[in-house]
Amino acid sequence: MDDNTVIIGEIKRLLGDRPHLAYVRSFGCQLNVSDGEKLKGLLKKMGYGFTEDESAADLIILNTCAVRENAEDRVFGIVGSMKKLKELKPSLIIGIAGCMTAQSHVAEKIKKSYPQVDFVLGTSAINGLPRLLLDCLNGARFSADIAEYDDFSAEVEQVRESSFKASVPIMFGCNNFCTYCIVPYVRGRERSRRPEDIISEVEGLVRDGYKEIMLLGQNVNSYGNDLGGEMSFPQLLRRLNAIEGDFWIRFMSSHPKDASTELIDAIFDCEKVAKHLHLPVQSGSDEILRRMNRRYTAEKYLSIVDDIYSRDPDFSLTTDIIVGFPDETNEDFEATLAIMERVRYDNIYSFIYSKRTGTKAAEMPDGISEEEKGQRMRRLLEVQRGISTEHYKRFIGRRMRVLADDVSKKREGYVTGKSSEFIIVEFEGDSSLIGQFVEVEVTEAMNWAVIGRRIQK
Ligand code: SAH
Ligand code: SF4
Ligand code: F3S
Repeated sequence: MDDNTVIIGEIKRLLGDRPHLAYVRSFGCQLNVSDGEKLKGLLKKMGYGFTEDESAADLIILNTCAVRENAEDRVFGIVGSMKKLKELKPSLIIGIAGCMTAQSHVAEKIKKSYPQVDFVLGTSAINGLPRLLLDCLNGARFSADIAEYDDFSAEVEQVRESSFKASVPIMFGCNNFCTYCIVPYVRGRERSRRPEDIISEVEGLVRDGYKEIMLLGQNVNSYGNDLGGEMSFPQLLRRLNAIEGDFWIRFMSSHPKDASTELIDAIFDCEKVAKHLHLPVQSGSDEILRRMNRRYTAEKYLSIVDDIYSRDPDFSLTTDIIVGFPDETNEDFEATLAIMERVRYDNIYSFIYSKRTGTKAAEMPDGISEEEKGQRMRRLLEVQRGISTEHYKRFIGRRMRVLADDVSKKREGYVTGKSSEFIIVEFEGDSSLIGQFVEVEVTEAMNWAVIGRRIQK
């Protein structure tokens, strides 16, 4: 950091008094968005302001995601189109950050085919941004920093996108090597942040009026495995729950193989922990789960679900599902639909399998056509629409506590927010409610949200 202070001073001197604007766009998961907020934190220190308009920017950073091919294609498309911007403004600096940069074939491709890119910054090298920028400002043609300094980039101050919802990474990397997934290759092995750093960050956020704290990790249930028994994830939840203030704690993601009774106890015991669990199932077929290296069976998964429903039959669950894993048979797919019907998720995030170079699944034979995969996806979405419409009816007539998020884009004069159960709730109101907890009585269920009436206190 000391080094950075000197470099940041130098950059400020070079930039001078003229206002400089940065455009930072994040393409990936919440962890990626959180990294983007850190990049902005560093840029702010260097004296940059921010713009949403690429053509007004002096600096563009694309903070990328590698999890599926279409995410990468989008970035390549955008970088391609930026050639023009650079011709119009030769002093423009363009950088690529995020998970794509950690794949050597991608970094090579950027360097070779996209001369408009000035620098490449790896996910563990966020603190290297000032150094790279200084090189660029001093006229370097291309610089890259994908070193693994680690993380404790974690402690970089963020420029947060929201004034009432905050993401707090609690760990980095992943040890699970699900066979389809690139994340362990681009994010490295699991590293837990120090508990006291997390606790003081959350305390600070609560003091600053934040109402929702989202704890982030690829598998939060293995938090602390590298801390020698000092603190587990359920213990961390209890510790954060003890912080005074009116706020919610959310977290994601939970790997089913590590979802313990202690975790479920903590969710039910801690009044600030939201009553919702995102528990990615990926598939309902044991054979596919085995080939995905998920290390649980459908039966084991359902035993967790049953434990939760035995404590609260209305508890809200959401999941991730992959459609069309290599050689997924019709029977495998039917098993996925069956587990959806059995669990009755409030919402699912579903993805058509995307082959990622370097992963084990990329080597597996795949006889299923893209057309068939598309059909399965449409069927899955249809089944889920039916489930949500039915399942959301359980909330009618009930009171929900909602954190108001924004004005509704669908209904004039309405505000939209999320309940503790992570259900979208829309109710009459105006923008003055944004960022506040509101009590709502649910009057109607749709397949994407519930509609309610605000209860005046
Ligand atoms: N660590 C998180 C997931 C991060 S990626 C977890 O395990 O829950 C988010 C989701 O993207 C995954 O749950 C999976 O459903 C999906 N995904 C990951 N790799 C994929 C691939 N190659 N093709 C399609 N979907 C993928
Ligand atoms: Fe990817 Fe599996 Fe790790 Fe999630 S748990 S990031 S799906 S390897
Ligand atoms: Fe997230 Fe995409 Fe990286 S899902 S961890 S930004 S590959």
